[in-house]
Amino acid sequence: MKSECAAIDALLDERRRFAPPPGFVARARVADPAVYAEAEDWEAYWERWARRLHWFSPWSTALEWSPPDARWFQEGTLNACYNCIDRHLPEGAGRPALLWEGEPGDRRRFTYGELATEVERFAGVLKSVGVGRGDRVAIYLPMIPEAVFAMLACARIGAPHSVVFAGFSPDSLADRINDAGAEVLVTADGGYRRGKVIALKRNADRAAARCPGLRSVVVVRRGQGVGSDGVEMTVGRDHWYHELAQSVRDGCSAEPMGAEDLLYILYTSGTTGKPKGVVHTTGGYMTQVYATTRTVLDLRQDDVYWCTADVGWVTGHSYVVYGPLAAGAAVVIYEGAPDWPDRGRFWEICERYGVSVFYTAPTAIRAFMQWGDEWPAARELGSIRLLGTVGEPINPEAWIWYRRAIGGDRCPIVDTWWQTETGAMMISPLPGVTHARPGSACRPLPGIDVDLLNDGGESVKAGYLAITRPWPSMLRGIWGDRPRFLETYWSKWDGIYFAGDGAKVDDDGYLWLLGRVDDVLNVAGHRIGTMEVESALVEHEAVAEAAVVGVEHPVKGQGIAAFVTLMGGREGSDELAAELRGHVADSIGAIARPEVVLFAADLPKTRSGKIMRRLLGDIAAGRAIGDTTTLAEPAVVRGVRERYREAEGG
Ligand code: PRX
Repeated sequence: MKSECAAIDALLDERRRFAPPPGFVARARVADPAVYAEAEDWEAYWERWARRLHWFSPWSTALEWSPPDARWFQEGTLNACYNCIDRHLPEGAGRPALLWEGEPGDRRRFTYGELATEVERFAGVLKSVGVGRGDRVAIYLPMIPEAVFAMLACARIGAPHSVVFAGFSPDSLADRINDAGAEVLVTADGGYRRGKVIALKRNADRAAARCPGLRSVVVVRRGQGVGSDGVEMTVGRDHWYHELAQSVRDGCSAEPMGAEDLLYILYTSGTTGKPKGVVHTTGGYMTQVYATTRTVLDLRQDDVYWCTADVGWVTGHSYVVYGPLAAGAAVVIYEGAPDWPDRGRFWEICERYGVSVFYTAPTAIRAFMQWGDEWPAARELGSIRLLGTVGEPINPEAWIWYRRAIGGDRCPIVDTWWQTETGAMMISPLPGVTHARPGSACRPLPGIDVDLLNDGGESVKAGYLAITRPWPSMLRGIWGDRPRFLETYWSKWDGIYFAGDGAKVDDDGYLWLLGRVDDVLNVAGHRIGTMEVESALVEHEAVAEAAVVGVEHPVKGQGIAAFVTLMGGREGSDELAAELRGHVADSIGAIARPEVVLFAADLPKTRSGKIMRRLLGDIAAGRAIGDTTTLAEPAVVRGVRERYREAEGG
């Protein structure tokens, strides 16, 4: 297949190995087209789902669409937290809500009734430090129950949260606090990752020093305290959560919020150096998140559900917190690494809690595959009935392994395509309905319409993924940056959303996602902007210029290769490469650490001075043809090729 677009052709070339094995047919129940037919009147379809939530007052119109601005369920009022907790009470008060396990093995359980008490208390604490409706609250916590309490408490009192992944650096945290204008930060003394204590409060202090608008820092003590001895509390600004909680007496009822009131801001990487704050509102978001939790994850009240994402990412927002709790399921949360204390930790957890629905990322599946079948085989995984994947294209080999080694060849797999901006799943098989094909996210969900378009806006078989009509959980903007919102998503075609992904469609209408077409990398399922990494590199005193490209990686999907030119008088060395890799990790977070740093004499540029990234990508992947001596030390270029070949085992 060839498209008319070079970016799409490059993706098609890269993904050639993504074809499923010949003759492979996934077992599934007979397709039921009625499900899709029911959603033909898509506004009515979404209204039907909205009606299954609790509303304080009804909406007048389903949708007002003035491209690119959508207003769903105008005049309706509801509360996201109420939908996740209160409406399950009192009948469901005794049902399990959170089943938490810390990395060192400590455990805590909360029923829906207990969750209500915890969240009301947390809401009381936030109020006691002056948080009110509309005030943004930054949350920088490990995967502990308090992360869920804090988010729901914000939603309860109408204070939009901005959760920052605890693996982000102090600088990244500070940028997000300042951009969101958050005056209150919730953090913890520390958390555990691979046996080590992550000193979150220390990071928070460094960030706070750069945040003039920050008034209060609420510090949760994790368990019996992690590194609490080393925690310095700034008088007047910092408060221990458990001390503030002692003076919270009253319960806290849920604020009726307008359907279009802000629920949260979540920062994600784009094509510029600065992450953008994606804005989600309440009514449409809750509707689509709830609908997809029910139809795609098939979650019911008696399910024990585990989504391995961190709440710092959108998957953690929609499918650890809001969706599964709105569905009344029991949600498993695990704090730490999958290989701690050994590579069987995830399967031990699945066995212990009797997990029935499991949702993770292809990068994790590829790691499990490499670690070997013996780890899942040692555990009883018969409770699992449905598997999900998200975050990046899944190669058929990983898909087939997942189905066999984890799903015992009896569980459907839902490969769900969506984004921070879409808020909820958009393209996915429906379990028990769709004949899944390994490596394909299948079809747009009921109520969703997508197309593959070329630059001229014509439908093609391989092209840019476009969403052709509004959907309830769509982003409502980029916080404080309307021009960037218009330019990034709505400038390519008129009134049609540009997702930034390439895709192809086969003769049966199945969609095959190919990867990003912009300067955004997908490293281990995490979105990282090449410009962000480049900005971090050029901040280092040794670096004159930097260009960052993605290179195929056997586990992470993509790894980061950085080409740098040095300031006069500086020489490249292994030590400097290691220092630069560390520098990026310190300034953004460990997820952005480049796999390799290559010292180049010069960076290839077009006549207009634009760096020729595709050529650099070819060099890093060992695809470059011809003489590359002017671009980089030939020995170094050979080095990176060999390194990746070794990693691929070829
Ligand atoms: O490139 C697509 C990829 O992840 C991007 C969105 O990243 P983020 O906003 O961080 O959200 C990740 C979790 C929803 C998309 O533009 N992506 C996500 N899911 C899939 C995928 N690519 C292929 N198949 C998927 N199932």
